[in-house]
Amino acid sequence: MTFTRRKMLTGLAGLAALGIVGGGARYWIGRPADPATHDYDLIAAPADIELIAGTRTPAWCYGGQAPGLELRARQGEWLRVRFTNHLPEPTTIHWHGIRLPLSMDGVPYVSQLPVLPGESFDYLFQVPDAGSFWYHPHTSSAEQLGRGLVGPLIVEEREPSGFRHERTLSLKNWHVDKQGAFTDFSVPREAARGGTPGVLSTVNGEHAPTLELPAGQVVRLRLINLTNTVTYRVNLPSGDARIYAIDGHPIAPRPLGKAYWLGPGMRIDLAVKVPPAGAALSLRNGPLRLATLASVDTAEAEGDWPAPLSANPVAEPDLRRAETLRFNFEWAGTLSSDAGQGGAFTFWQINGQAWDINDKTCADRPIATLKKDGHYIFELRNLSQYQHPIHLHGLTFKVISSNRKRIDPWYTDTYLLGKNETARIALVADNPGVWMFHCHVIDHMETGLMAAIEVV
Ligand code: C2O
Ligand code: CU
Ligand code: CU
Repeated sequence: MTFTRRKMLTGLAGLAALGIVGGGARYWIGRPADPATHDYDLIAAPADIELIAGTRTPAWCYGGQAPGLELRARQGEWLRVRFTNHLPEPTTIHWHGIRLPLSMDGVPYVSQLPVLPGESFDYLFQVPDAGSFWYHPHTSSAEQLGRGLVGPLIVEEREPSGFRHERTLSLKNWHVDKQGAFTDFSVPREAARGGTPGVLSTVNGEHAPTLELPAGQVVRLRLINLTNTVTYRVNLPSGDARIYAIDGHPIAPRPLGKAYWLGPGMRIDLAVKVPPAGAALSLRNGPLRLATLASVDTAEAEGDWPAPLSANPVAEPDLRRAETLRFNFEWAGTLSSDAGQGGAFTFWQINGQAWDINDKTCADRPIATLKKDGHYIFELRNLSQYQHPIHLHGLTFKVISSNRKRIDPWYTDTYLLGKNETARIALVADNPGVWMFHCHVIDHMETGLMAAIEVV
């Protein structure tokens, strides 16, 4: 195990069981009174994992596991991660969905220099929003994320949320063959289409596992899609499930319904009423089973649906005075284009500009400049036949309308823009910096579908 936990971070569930939650009690035990220099020592290093029984997959791990170790922090507090790179190549960590200073955002040559093999970097920032987030590199992304450098980051609510039980479900599809060996993470003809899909689906690193849940309780499942390209159509037939938060941000709870489309990078917090002991539910992606939720006996009294989660402190955009900016996402290439010696393929562009993943200076030419504290509407137009989970760093935005479906506005960092859809999002540009704006289908991002948005 390459990871040392400096302190014991106990979830609310565990502490409730210990009976130490009470009016204003410090349920966040273990935070050292005199602050040490960091909360986590997180090491990225190669390690073999067993995805397919009897085989070895040469993964790259955070904290000795892939998907990586779950990090936890509490809303409003600092998260201090001393990161060490024991990989054979440079890397960084980006904290997906966290509003933080640019210097902590993990984008090479924009936020920091890449962390070289053998080097360490201290990531130190406050976490303003509670919710389900995640972390991953922003360097050689197809391969680094593909090999397993993806992990959940859970920010617990400032006040107890009302959930007594929770589980994190890290969803990942792997590019492996039957012997567990990696196959290509990105194939040009797939990158030019929907992205190169993995073939082996896992929850917390296991294919179709059985998760035991306490009978009669309402359990918070944090579903995190940390896969390179696959959108999961999450459904739970005959289960009683409600969505409490989308991409970390609370919504008025609503039934899961037929399916929720969870694109790469996206999360939902799903409350599930666990059926009587002995029963089982099938958590699925379309018709495919992701995991079995098995109900087991518990001495606990029946649980009830918790109250809605409290909103995060995200500034509300004022649509009347907002300036509208337009962004077109479109196909740019031909398969026989410019992938010359070591050059990157270009298949995608935003407003006619393709990001060159090998050009360190792209961020010097931002696609838009926003005024600090200005209010903006972005009109996102997808001129292609493929969907794109559009993600923005550093700022949280509100989804306000779509020409394809009814929108009940919500706050997020990633919007799954459907084929030929036009959607509008709005935000207050309250965080100065140069923020990456990209599709989270990793091989779209690496073949042009990325830009920088500057806030000054
Ligand atoms: Cu999770 Cu730049 O992204
Ligand atoms: Cu991000
Ligand atoms: Cu895309």
